[in-house]
Amino acid sequence: MIDKKHQVRQIFDSIAFRYDFLNHLLSFGIDHYWRHAALKLTKFQAGAVLLDVACGTGDFAIAAKKMGVKTIYGADFSHNMLKLFNKKSDWIVGNNIQMVAEKIPLKKESVTNITVAFGVRNFYNIQEGFNSFFNALKKNGKATVLEFRLPSNSFFKAVYKFYFKKILPVVGGIISGDKEAYSYLPRSVEEFDEKINLPELLKNSGFEKIETHSLTFGIVQVIIATK
Ligand SMILES: C[S@@+](CC[C@H](N)C(=O)[O-])C[C@H]1O[C@@H](n2cnc3c(N)ncnc32)[C@H](O)[C@@H]1O
Repeated sequence: MIDKKHQVRQIFDSIAFRYDFLNHLLSFGIDHYWRHAALKLTKFQAGAVLLDVACGTGDFAIAAKKMGVKTIYGADFSHNMLKLFNKKSDWIVGNNIQMVAEKIPLKKESVTNITVAFGVRNFYNIQEGFNSFFNALKKNGKATVLEFRLPSNSFFKAVYKFYFKKILPVVGGIISGDKEAYSYLPRSVEEFDEKINLPELLKNSGFEKIETHSLTFGIVQVIIATK
C-alpha cells in the first residue's frame, strides 16, 4: 500500500485542473469568504513576510495579496497545483516552492506569518508540520490554520455528513473524473475530527497563544497560534 504522502500528492495532482472550479461550486462560493475571514482575523502587521503552506492553486495567498501583504511565498508538494498557481501569479516570491509541509526548507525564523487553508488535514504528520512552522516563524510570528470540522450541533452535523458523503463525492467525482479523490475528502474530515486536536498539537510545537474561531455554523474553524 502506498503511504499517505504519496496517496495525497497523487490525488491533488490528479484533480488540480478541476480544483478551483469544483472548490467554488461545491462550497457555493463560500470558500472565498472563509479565506477572507481567516486572513482578517490574522491581523497582518506592516512588512509581513508570509509563507502560504499547502497553497494549492494559490487562492489563500492571492487573498492575502489583495489584503495588502506584499511578500508572499507559496509552497505545496503537488507539482500540478503549483503549476496552476504560477499561472495566476507573477508577483509571488521565488516562483513557488515544491516541498512537504513537514520539512519547510527555509532558514529558522525567516517569516512573520504562515497560513494554511484546508491543507493540515492532509499532512502525513501534522505534529511535524507544526514543528516546522514553529521553526520557520520569527518570534511573535503567527500561524493561521483554516480547516473544516464536524459541527457540534447535531442538526448541522447531519446535514454536513449528508452533503459530504452523498452529494460531494458524486458531483466531485463526475466533474473531476476521480471519484476516489472526492470520497477521500469527507473521509479525511471525519477521521481527522475524531482523532486530532489542533490547538493541542500547536501547543506541543511550542506556540504560546492560541485563538480559535468558528465560521458558518461551525463547519469551518480558524486557529491562530502565536510564537
Ligand atoms: C484542499 S487543497 C487546499 C489548497 C489551498 N490552500 C486552498 O485554500 O484552496 C490542499 C493542498 O495541500 C497540499 N498538501 C497536502 N499535504 C501536503 C504536505 N504534506 N506538504 C505540502 N503540501 C501538501 C495538496 O497538494 C493540496 O494542494
